[in-house]
Amino acid sequence: MSLLEVKGLHAHYGKSHILHGIDMEIPESTIVSLLGRNGSGRSTLLKAIMGLVPPTAGTVTLDGRLLAGQRPYGICRQGIGYVPEERLVFPNLTVEENLAMGVQKGARGVHRWSLGEMYDYFPRLKERRTIRAGYLSGGEQQMLTICRSLLGNPRVLLIDEPTEGLAPKIVEVVMEVILDIGRCGVAVLLVEQKLTIALKVAQQVMVMGHGELVFQGTPGELDAAPEVRRNWLEVA
Ligand SMILES: Nc1ncnc2c1ncn2[C@@H]1O[C@H](COP(=O)(O)OP(=O)(O)O)[C@@H](O)[C@H]1O
Ligand SMILES: [Mg+2]
Repeated sequence: MSLLEVKGLHAHYGKSHILHGIDMEIPESTIVSLLGRNGSGRSTLLKAIMGLVPPTAGTVTLDGRLLAGQRPYGICRQGIGYVPEERLVFPNLTVEENLAMGVQKGARGVHRWSLGEMYDYFPRLKERRTIRAGYLSGGEQQMLTICRSLLGNPRVLLIDEPTEGLAPKIVEVVMEVILDIGRCGVAVLLVEQKLTIALKVAQQVMVMGHGELVFQGTPGELDAAPEVRRNWLEVA
């Protein structure tokens, strides 16, 4: 059985019908890259899984337990971590206080991340641990958001465009972290605009178009499907 299962998921913003019946399964230790053009519904899918946009139909289950219909906080407590597109830090708290806010025990058997590991990945955060998060650069806030989510010891991590606006050196580190997350048994659903990165880290690729999944396969299979890239990914 897959760790995260989404079946027939629909979501609306008011009268706008955005997600049109999404079916996906993510096994443990698997990194899935979710691709698609801007506006295709990738962020909405992550929000619907998190309960931030309540699904209007369909189910989301984690290890067979139903999540759809629960509040975001409850969904997070059950083991889904979320790194939103907009870097949400508590600006008046220090870096270390922000990290402490994220700590949760996590489920039994789940890899436990430590503050030390976070500082090893991102020494810059360690240097700035007593600085208020509001004074960090955008890239530093992004690192902070990723680390705070990891300290919640999630079983599944949803990450929305983590490398957006980051310097190439930091992008490399973020990729390494994502690969390590997968190695630790956590499932990752990654929305990533940079195709080379998305294909490099993922075992599975899904492409979204107009609120539906229009392709699912391995990075190699996507490579061998130029029509998918032409119709759903490249900017015309
Ligand atoms: N808060 C919102 N209210 C109304 N429409 C929205 C909202 N957020 C996104 N949308 C619309 O939903 C569609 C999907 O958006 P989104 O999920 O953000 O796509 P992506 O992340 O793939 O760029 C777009 O047409 C967008 O304009
Ligand atoms: Mg988005």
